[in-house]
Amino acid sequence: MKQLFMGVALVGLLGSGAALAADKPAGLQGSHGQSQLSAQASSMLPLCASCHGLEGVSTEGMYPNLAGQKVEYLVKQLQQFKSRERNDPIMSPMAEPLSPEMVNELAAYFASLK
Ligand code: HEC
Repeated sequence: MKQLFMGVALVGLLGSGAALAADKPAGLQGSHGQSQLSAQASSMLPLCASCHGLEGVSTEGMYPNLAGQKVEYLVKQLQQFKSRERNDPIMSPMAEPLSPEMVNELAAYFASLK
């Protein structure tokens, strides 16, 4: 059920991404990001984007921008959220289900955004 919801959310997101790409070439269809994401990593993207923004610019003052951040730093933060070395009530549960591959891919995605 959760899988289905994520699938539907992603389809909705891709639809709006396509509309966005028309006037914003750096969108989902651009040269960076999404195309290199595995199905697993891209299924998480709508969730991450709900706080950090699809373009890596966050939606709220308490959520950090990720666009253009160094990939090594983003990987490290996600690993530390997972291990609770960096313990945040919001982000630690988000990082928990991510495989090492998904951490690398999502970090690379957000790092590639300008
Ligand atoms: C409900 C909102 C929310 C969602 C969803 C969310 N995050 Fe976060 N994220 C945060 C907050 C809040 C912080 C800052 C935590 C802190 O203060 O330590 C953060 C921090 C981060 C950081 C560290 C940034 C830095 O500058 O140190 C990374 C990387 C990150 N999130 C990636 C992700 C990824 C990848 C996903 C999807 C799997 C995701 N987040 C989903 C709210 C969210």
